Amino acid sequence: GSELAHAISGSTRLYGIFGHPITHSLSPLMQTFALQHHHLDGLYVPFPVQPDHLPKALAGAIALGICGLNITIPHKEAILPLLDEVSTEAEFIGAVNTVDIRDGRTIGYNTDGTGFLMPLQELPMSFADTSACILGAGGAARAVTMALLRAGCPDLTLCNRTPERADRLCSDLRERFPQARVNWVPFEHAATAARDHLLIVNTTAVGLHPGDPQLLPETAFRPEHVVYDIVYRPLHTELLQMAKQRGATIVPGIEMLIGQGAEAFRIWTDHTFPTSDVRRLVYPLI
Ligand code: ATR
Repeated sequence: GSELAHAISGSTRLYGIFGHPITHSLSPLMQTFALQHHHLDGLYVPFPVQPDHLPKALAGAIALGICGLNITIPHKEAILPLLDEVSTEAEFIGAVNTVDIRDGRTIGYNTDGTGFLMPLQELPMSFADTSACILGAGGAARAVTMALLRAGCPDLTLCNRTPERADRLCSDLRERFPQARVNWVPFEHAATAARDHLLIVNTTAVGLHPGDPQLLPETAFRPEHVVYDIVYRPLHTELLQMAKQRGATIVPGIEMLIGQGAEAFRIWTDHTFPTSDVRRLVYPLI
């Protein structure tokens, strides 16, 4: 009773997440924890928004004075043309996962790239000395590759089944980062490409479901490798288990989920995310 009385007032700021389905999202828990950690007068709630209702829901959020939104499946692409402003990253990725609403104006961001980098920044590695092998060339790969090149990574190799997608991402990246070496190889050569790079990132959804194909053979991994899987369920995918067994440093996808939340929280509140506490909170839930 008394805790709720302290948690809500006439000036409580409202935040939330639009998605469908939304029941499995960890964002309400993470963001609520962070708001409470800083004693901020705010609430973060899930909104199950049907695809057809997105324009009305966004207009409603503005009308109600909601301050910030996370946007998830199936709205991340569809929301772009509905916003007043979209960040360069979100434009490049073609998807928005965070909206800041200020004075009735909506600004779209994509915090996946920044969130992806956060756990890597805690490792003793320098981006300027790190070559990366990226599995996949979809939206997630766009966020990851742009972030790595921005951080100063000099050399990227994409591995993808569909040549057109890899080709397009490659040329989009070269245009923005002319000083970097950006190439792609067909997926059959992923094992060879992985061996030659320091950082290996899975940006595909492969590994999420039991019985998914094996992305790389065990022999692709060395102890020098940092292997990062953006799939966060299960906590340790088969790819990560194999890499760990071979002595590599592994980064589970939950770290990127926490990181993207941290960056959204910074955009909305200008406060730092209590990352270690959030880790303790969400790791057991995966
Ligand atoms: P997201 O936005 O999550 O990145 P996406 O844009 O649909 O999703 O991209 C999925 C990526 O995973 C693609 O690069 C896809 O490869 P194709 O371009 O060849 O389709 C990749 N992918 C999906 N299933 C795969 C599999 N079994 N083996 C290798 N790559 C796969």
